[in-house]
Amino acid sequence: MVGEMYAFKDKGNRDISLRPELTAPVMRWYLNDMTSAPKPLKLFYYGNCFRYERPQSGRYREFFQFGAEIIGAPLLAADAEIISLADACLRGAGLTGYQLRLGQIGILRGMLEKLGVPNDAWAACLHFLDKREFEELRRLLDEKGIFGEKVDALERLAGMKGGSEVLGEASKLVGDLDGLAYLKKLAGRLETMGVRGLRFDLGVVRGLDYYTGMVFEIDVPELGAEKQVCGGGSYALAEVFGGKPIESTGFAIGFDRVMLAMERQGGKAEVAGPEVYVVPVGDEAVPAAMKLLASLRAKGIAADVELMGRNISKALKYADAIRAKRAAIIGAKELADGTVTYKDMKTGEQSVVQLSLEQVKVGDALREARAAFAAHSYENAIAACGAALERLKGEGDTPETRKERVEALKLLASISMVTGAWVETLGYLEHIIDLTSSGSDPEAHLGALLQYGDILSKKGKWQLALGRFEEAEKHATRNGQGELLGRALVGKGTVQWRLGKAGEARPCAERALEFARAAGDDLLVGRALALLASTSFDLGDYDEALERNAKALESFERAGDAAEVSRVLNNMGETYCITGDFQRAVREFERSLKIAKGSGNKRNVGYALTYLASAYISNGNLIKARNCALEANEMLNGVEDPYGRAYLTLVFAQIFVSQGKLDEAFKRFEQAASEMQKLDIPYDTGTVQLAHARALSTVGDQAGARTLLKSAAKAFEAAGATAMRDITRKELEKLGGIGQ
Ligand code: HAM
Repeated sequence: MVGEMYAFKDKGNRDISLRPELTAPVMRWYLNDMTSAPKPLKLFYYGNCFRYERPQSGRYREFFQFGAEIIGAPLLAADAEIISLADACLRGAGLTGYQLRLGQIGILRGMLEKLGVPNDAWAACLHFLDKREFEELRRLLDEKGIFGEKVDALERLAGMKGGSEVLGEASKLVGDLDGLAYLKKLAGRLETMGVRGLRFDLGVVRGLDYYTGMVFEIDVPELGAEKQVCGGGSYALAEVFGGKPIESTGFAIGFDRVMLAMERQGGKAEVAGPEVYVVPVGDEAVPAAMKLLASLRAKGIAADVELMGRNISKALKYADAIRAKRAAIIGAKELADGTVTYKDMKTGEQSVVQLSLEQVKVGDALREARAAFAAHSYENAIAACGAALERLKGEGDTPETRKERVEALKLLASISMVTGAWVETLGYLEHIIDLTSSGSDPEAHLGALLQYGDILSKKGKWQLALGRFEEAEKHATRNGQGELLGRALVGKGTVQWRLGKAGEARPCAERALEFARAAGDDLLVGRALALLASTSFDLGDYDEALERNAKALESFERAGDAAEVSRVLNNMGETYCITGDFQRAVREFERSLKIAKGSGNKRNVGYALTYLASAYISNGNLIKARNCALEANEMLNGVEDPYGRAYLTLVFAQIFVSQGKLDEAFKRFEQAASEMQKLDIPYDTGTVQLAHARALSTVGDQAGARTLLKSAAKAFEAAGATAMRDITRKELEKLGGIGQ
């Protein structure tokens, strides 16, 4: 090789050699940068090489090599892999009839040793054997005192070619060398890997000194003198460059010779066409087609698209010409249906596939859904979740797919919650609860149970809500999830309080407060305190109620939850109303209104206005009361909130009373009472009945008033609101009714 080096002096009088091959550069690269990379390393290259040879057909001073090396893998497996890759490359280029000659350099070296050839003469001997220059070989060996039969035997060995019989013959000459057994094993492996036409050739020496084990060459006979299109073998180069020895094997294909061989054989390499050729029919289909194209490419599917705007039959002709395997057609019908029609270019078979399925990877769809949700683009978010779930249908049930399903459902639940579609939200939550009931995702399971309970209690379905919260309490206790246990307890306590069981609600709220404080969750601390305040209110301990609400207020402010801040201010206002401090009540309701308006929550604005209206009535400021009530009515229009509506009806009734429009007023009282009853909220049923009774009493209908006061007292009793029950009973006594 040294004699063939393309070496010269450059203009600066420096000695320059152009690379004759690429294995040595690859090895230097490995030693510089990749010694600690995971093994085995599988590297490939393509580049120009230079050898200063006499140019002739197929032998050039600059030529191109494609090569591959495996570094750091056990040799038998790596050698087999390398040879089968070389074979596959040539076959892939459409070459036929090439001959693969397999040898083992250790066999010839073993023979040289056996003949007593001194080590320093081995390289020269191997060079003469490689070039088939036997005269030179004999002269050299003669000088070393080796001649006659010994040299005949060496020549015979180097000339051994053929099938497995060669290995037997060789062992007669050189004994049972490891190299022979290795070749046998390697040939067996190659056989199983589908490499055909392999011959043993013990004379394969290779022109490079670094080979130590298996060596092989591949010839295309049609090329004549320069017929070798590929050469390779296993070698020891790392130590030559100062590195630690490591198993390495590889090959290089002479690109120019392969091109020549392809020309001589007249065959054409099958150029693989794209997997899919996308055909938009009409301009309207172009965006969808481009989207499909991009998603196919993103999935690593070779895809091309009709750029010329040709009609479908011409586009398909082109697809056929470029050997596309399938055409993906998107026309008006496909656009309308959100589908794509696939046509197999060989069989003509057609199938229609949902475009959303085609384009979507679950992960991408979920990412898109999250982004759309964050951007309040709910329709897109729903579509993306739908696509993810649709896709997941075909993906079996693994922990990963289950997690993805849960995530899609969680997003759908959040979207439907935001858009007020609570029945749908419950459906999604139910689904999550089912999917996670095996304990696969306790966090999601509990979260869904709690959200389910929250929705039910907002809708006044107290008993059902209680069931969900109790289930959540059980799970959270079992799994030691303190914060979620706090949420479950607040939920449960709130329902109990709503059901008039203030006595049971209290310990719940107190325990919840402990967990909430331990978790440092301001929102939950606020909710537990507000619940405790409500129980104090019911029991008539208004100072305690105000104090607890003031603390709850601080927590909600820290948590930055405007809705809760506004709710607590309303509660405080209500407490001041009961204690007759209407000035303060108005002040709290106004604060609440400001915060609700600031957060843009129509429902809360409606609530604050309703309470404010009722405080103005008590203050005797009718005009303001009426204006507030009308504004509240506007705000609550379109918001699905039967409780808010019922409360506003009560306020209107009171306004009518103040205006002396009693018929209107009574109608409203009855309406409000029946709605509160329907909602199963005894406290407010009592409040409506009490106000109604007072109005009746002012117009002299004492009998009607007494009946209503009795019902109101019962309702307060049922609500556990003992303070209000007692006030009502006192009024009943005053009217001559029975207080108990
Ligand atoms: P090589 O046998 O010297 O091996 O070269 C590989 C191939 O390059 C040859 O089989 C031949 O097709 C092509 N080739 C060599 N010289 C010329 C030339 N002057 N003109 C046209 N084509 C030529 C190597 O180079 C080793 N690095 C292969 C290897 C890789 N061994 C282990 N890993």
